[in-house]
Amino acid sequence: MIDKLQNYIKETEAFIASTAEELENFRIKYLGKKGILNDLFEDFKNVPRENKKDVGQKINELKNLVQEKINSFKSSFEESTTSKSGIDLTAPADPNKMGTRHPISLVRNEIIDIFNRIGFTISEGPEIEDDWHVFSALNFPEEHPARDMQDTFFIDDASKILLRTHTSSVQVRVMENSKPPIRTISPGRVFRNEAISARAHCIFHQVEGLYIDENVSFADLKQTLMFFAKEMFGEKTQIRLRPSYFPFTEPSAEMDVACNICGGKGCNVCKYTGWLEILGCGMVDPNVLKNCKIDSEKYTGFAFGMGIERIAMLKYGINDLRLYFENDVRFLNQFKSSL
Ligand code: DAH
Repeated sequence: MIDKLQNYIKETEAFIASTAEELENFRIKYLGKKGILNDLFEDFKNVPRENKKDVGQKINELKNLVQEKINSFKSSFEESTTSKSGIDLTAPADPNKMGTRHPISLVRNEIIDIFNRIGFTISEGPEIEDDWHVFSALNFPEEHPARDMQDTFFIDDASKILLRTHTSSVQVRVMENSKPPIRTISPGRVFRNEAISARAHCIFHQVEGLYIDENVSFADLKQTLMFFAKEMFGEKTQIRLRPSYFPFTEPSAEMDVACNICGGKGCNVCKYTGWLEILGCGMVDPNVLKNCKIDSEKYTGFAFGMGIERIAMLKYGINDLRLYFENDVRFLNQFKSSL
């Protein structure tokens, strides 16, 4: 038996594998279930006691040798795979860096999602507008300060072509082009000639809402906005409506939500009032309906307009509007969402 073992050891020492297949055959020959080593261990049972020690040592020697051979060829095959193609096929893949959505997009998508659930469609209008859609149809008096050069970017002074200062212009377009019932929201970019600071920017985003039908009341407006606030800021969110003025709504109001940073106790974000203003709203002025050829005797409606930047500020605790437009990845990478 010792001689037999000695031969196997010699054979193993001399073995050279030139392909992975040869190596695998060698492995099966020695280490396979019906392989040489298993046979040897089987025969070992019948070895006389006095020889057991020597034979045992030889079998172990052979087993280790076989294993070493396999390991050394195996790694040399792997290395040569790498060096041939120049690519290490066994290396773990680089993780794909996922981009993140901009917080303005996240909040816009969330607003759209909330109003979709209660039957609002989405409508869009042009950023370059005329005086009629931005001001006149919305009942702005001829001398209204919002028409002033200081607020509005005019593209063509004579023909009064301008960059829209609010998305309320889209409600005019929707009313001109469709018949009630109308239930729509209009997200979009707006432009105002303002000095850039932490609290003001010349470009920002709004979502306009419009609901026109028979018998639409202020109670409908209030319930719709309450639903929105709770969906956006949480079930416990409280709202309040303060009387206000807009040329295109009568009565008009501004809506506050209880400050979600201090929980209404008062902090520097809510200027120690416990409330934060998030939107303007009201019942669509009959003059606006008439301007858009909608029967103001038959139909009533409500409208609202909110700033996306402001809502994102409250939601994420952002304290400077300029961060939205600087595209600093350290800022942008913090926003993760599926929406
Ligand atoms: N357009 C107004 C603004 O930019 C916001 C607004 C207020 C829109 C009241 C409305 C509304 O539809 O009813 O400040």
